[in-house]
Amino acid sequence: MRVTITDLKEMKRKAEKIPMITAYDYTSARLVESTGIPLILVGDSLGQVVQGHDSTLPVTMDDIIYHVKSVVRGTQKAHVIADMPFMSYQADVADAIRNAGRLLKEGGASSVKLEGGRVMAETVRRIVEVGIPVMGHIGLTPQSFNQLGGYKVQGKTAKAALDLMDDALALEQAGVYAIVLEMVPLNLAQSITRKLSIPTIGIGAGVHCDGQVQVFHDILGLITDEMHKHARRYAEVGNLIKAVMEQYIQDVRNGAFPTDRESFHMAHHAIEEMNALGSPVDGLVEGAGYRNRIEGRK
Ligand code: KIV
Repeated sequence: MRVTITDLKEMKRKAEKIPMITAYDYTSARLVESTGIPLILVGDSLGQVVQGHDSTLPVTMDDIIYHVKSVVRGTQKAHVIADMPFMSYQADVADAIRNAGRLLKEGGASSVKLEGGRVMAETVRRIVEVGIPVMGHIGLTPQSFNQLGGYKVQGKTAKAALDLMDDALALEQAGVYAIVLEMVPLNLAQSITRKLSIPTIGIGAGVHCDGQVQVFHDILGLITDEMHKHARRYAEVGNLIKAVMEQYIQDVRNGAFPTDRESFHMAHHAIEEMNALGSPVDGLVEGAGYRNRIEGRK
């Protein structure tokens, strides 16, 4: 049984902090699942960290479904949240319901996430009404970076802070089970967190949120050329990959890889048979290594 939205409410009630991480493929999903993390987000950040776009706007429904399926296959316990991509829910409510439904029905997600506050409240209400759990996302909403004038901290003035509080309350009333607060001053995030009975999940919103979300590539140091202030680099996996690749290339070039230990051999009698048949071999036959490896896996 996967983590449910009821489990998450219970975690808030018990003041248990909620860790959440993004994942986009089977292998990383398996790795993060093995740590017992309760929430995995297949974020539209995949547009940047997987596809190489400079924003999340080009990401499509089919892209998200493809990645959600891979992550769901790699997990059994984690609650997998599918991000609704740009323009899959903004134009009209029927469209939003249909697309949210596809993420659960085709992708296998446990819930969906969409960006926007009061303006999205009616859409959220209708999606939740048909039985699809929704996570909200306010503060810096990357799909609106053109409107916001860039990727900036939100809610810094009294008016902007009050607007964000109203957004959070409207989303809670509309039925979201949790809200992501992105790039919001920590005291404002703390006030919002206190006012809501549902969990807040912060990213650049300080320590007082009920949970935290980070992008997999950021905390692992997979993106080596840029860093957000809100992200902590727990490892330099990007540099490790580069070092491993350099060693591998060097080993292939100078014949240090593969050694006998990483090779396969024909049985002695088969070599003798080949010799008797007039096709002498040195103990290795072209293609045998590959076939043996495949057979070894069976
Ligand atoms: O797409 C994403 O990864 C997100 C998180 C940063 C919250 O929306």
